[in-house]
Amino acid sequence: MIEFKNVSKIYPGNKVAVKNINLRFETGEFICFIGTSGSGKTTCMRMINRMNIPSSGTIEIDGRDISKINEINLRRHIGYVIQQIGLMPHMTIYDNIIMVPKLLKWPEDKMNHIARELLQKVDLPESYLDYYPSELSGGQQQRIGVIRALAANQEIILMDEPFGALDPITRDNLQQLVKRLQREMGKTIIFVTHDMDEALKLSDRMVVMNQGQVVQFDTPDSILAHPANDFVRDMLGEERLNHAVFDYETVEKMMVRNPICTLPNKKVSESIHMMKKNRVDMLFVVDEQKHLMGHVDIFDLDRSRMGNDLIGNHIKKTTYIYNNTKIRDAIYYINDLGYRNIPVVNENRVLVGLVTRAAVVDRVYESYWSDYQPEGDDAIAQIKPEEMTV
Ligand SMILES: Nc1ncnc2c1ncn2[C@@H]1O[C@H](COP(=O)(O)OP(=O)(O)O)[C@@H](O)[C@H]1O
Ligand SMILES: [Mg+2]
Repeated sequence: MIEFKNVSKIYPGNKVAVKNINLRFETGEFICFIGTSGSGKTTCMRMINRMNIPSSGTIEIDGRDISKINEINLRRHIGYVIQQIGLMPHMTIYDNIIMVPKLLKWPEDKMNHIARELLQKVDLPESYLDYYPSELSGGQQQRIGVIRALAANQEIILMDEPFGALDPITRDNLQQLVKRLQREMGKTIIFVTHDMDEALKLSDRMVVMNQGQVVQFDTPDSILAHPANDFVRDMLGEERLNHAVFDYETVEKMMVRNPICTLPNKKVSESIHMMKKNRVDMLFVVDEQKHLMGHVDIFDLDRSRMGNDLIGNHIKKTTYIYNNTKIRDAIYYINDLGYRNIPVVNENRVLVGLVTRAAVVDRVYESYWSDYQPEGDDAIAQIKPEEMTV
């Protein structure tokens, strides 16, 4: 557990880099500091291993004030990775991986063991231990860089924009790798980035910083759902916020309420009439308390043969969703699974609404393309009268 208590940092020249921050990270969390350049992210991170000393306030690790812990001892437990995890070209992969354990004077067999174990975790053969970096591909070197950061088995690892200079694909691969290893190995990672996608992808919780202050500290989902202010909203951007809506808003926001339905004791002829009047090709069947029982389809009902039958004899099974279903999931059912319409029920299975394919199209359109306008109107045309004869 890492705790910042009223921590400020003022650099010489009265430069206030960090202003009275209070934060508490749990063991095993992946924390990202995100913010614009100069917002104090690096300063915050470097105060955790005393590379920077707070001007006021205290930082505690597992309840111990770090200013009272011997510096060497502290860093034994905290790994630090700066930009571009470059390997030493004149050292073998093995020597690169065990750089920090060697400094910590681990016995050779322990270093050997961890090097092999980590290499396995990134699917590289053990023979690579004797290679030099230049004999590996760029991507393989990056993976070695990542496992090197974990080799000393420190509980806390600080990473300052480690993937900043990489191309998007390599970066994406390494992000997944770091996240996987962090979970598998139960590390606490404090990660600085100015890339919002990176922060959203990696964080268990993220610290949004602006001008030395914490603007918001929460999970990516909560921040997307409830950005604290315009600064956070701007950092996230309109597009991300619109898309995120699908993840936390429920179908209540897009369903048609009180869909047309019929009762099992109604006559088939009556229900067919109802469908025609309302221009629908199916009706939901509910009991007197509006519990969903199923549906009837106009193509299955034949007025001349079964007009006097009761609807109850022609009910078909219906797939339904609950009213707390997220919009993203409803879109999946309709789009990927091909349901036309899906009835929505409450926790008592009372029919409360209907999600239609049209509503899904509207909702998706609204959030992806609401302010899109084609440049000209020559892409749309109407058949002219003279074109309608042959
Ligand atoms: N050693 C220093 N001396 C004076 N000012 C500094 C020093 N390091 C950082 N700063 C200033 O403190 C502020 C925060 O810096 P930093 O923590 O590096 O921000 P970030 O990592 O978010 O870009 C910036 O305005 C920066 O110019
Ligand atoms: Mg920085």
